[in-house]
Amino acid sequence: MRVALIGMGSVGRGVLETLVKKDLGIVVTGIADSRSGCMDSTGIDLPSVLSAKKNGRPCGSPDISATDVIKNADYDALIEVTPTNACSGEPAIGYIKTALGRQKHVVTSNKGPIALAYKELRGLAQKNHVALRYEATVAGAIPIMHTLEHGLSGNEIFGLYGVLNGTCNYILTRMAAEGLTYDQALMEAREMGYAEADPTYDVQGIDAAIKLVILANTIWDNGVTLDNVERTGIDLLTADALRLAEEEGCTIRLIAEAIPRKNILRVTPRIIEKNHPLVVEGTLNALTLETDLAKEITLIGKGAGSIETASAIIGDLLFIRDHHVQRT
Ligand code: HSE
Repeated sequence: MRVALIGMGSVGRGVLETLVKKDLGIVVTGIADSRSGCMDSTGIDLPSVLSAKKNGRPCGSPDISATDVIKNADYDALIEVTPTNACSGEPAIGYIKTALGRQKHVVTSNKGPIALAYKELRGLAQKNHVALRYEATVAGAIPIMHTLEHGLSGNEIFGLYGVLNGTCNYILTRMAAEGLTYDQALMEAREMGYAEADPTYDVQGIDAAIKLVILANTIWDNGVTLDNVERTGIDLLTADALRLAEEEGCTIRLIAEAIPRKNILRVTPRIIEKNHPLVVEGTLNALTLETDLAKEITLIGKGAGSIETASAIIGDLLFIRDHHVQRT
């Protein structure tokens, strides 16, 4: 299977490092970062590209753009891992449309396009008989989409509750455990590389709300948007509020919640008992699904990170290889 990769941030590098380490039968024939690109239908030398990026050099020629790679490289699936623009979804939406229009499968970790243009992109994928997969957009390494699609495929999903933002969870954990101030904990989360480029997206609950929109549209196809999410962040929470919760054997977590039959779609800080399954520590994410047959299922795992997110992308790629691409 041949792939092209657009975006050489930590997720893009994590994917390439994984492909160097593991022989998965995936050949990379096109790569682009924000300044350059390279194409080779026989397979790009990934260690050289990774070493160039590590040393601050571009991944290829400045004369080759991301669009050139998407339009001209010889690939079966595009890996679109450019930074999220949650307001416009661009340029990622354009990249994805171009690849789907060329009848190429697309795997993305980019939340913007899926939250903003899901219906249109899904329609385009269907029209062109290719797959659009986005496991990495919600909760990093946790295989939520695969679980919904396969393990729980015979179930009706009544609702879901989750910790979908690692940065907020890290801040709340550190404030409660170490008595750090909000600013100190946020600074630590940024140093760990978990926070969005603009961390207000994390702490005001926007990132969790985007993930909730992606999940709701995937499960219920109900056409909800960010505007439909009732949202309160953690940016106004005080250390005193956390201390008071702790005194009652509880703690505070930013919980994303969707229950269509009650018209609930919200992200809010909630006081919950410390032994509740959603009380996960640090940057972990957790998601409880309420279903008719399996009843309650809770998934817990790393919500972000270079290799952890690559795990979700590789899972999508191998799914496409096994279900859509003739193996050679
Ligand atoms: N900023 C996000 C988080 C990264 O903290 O969960 C993963 O989407």
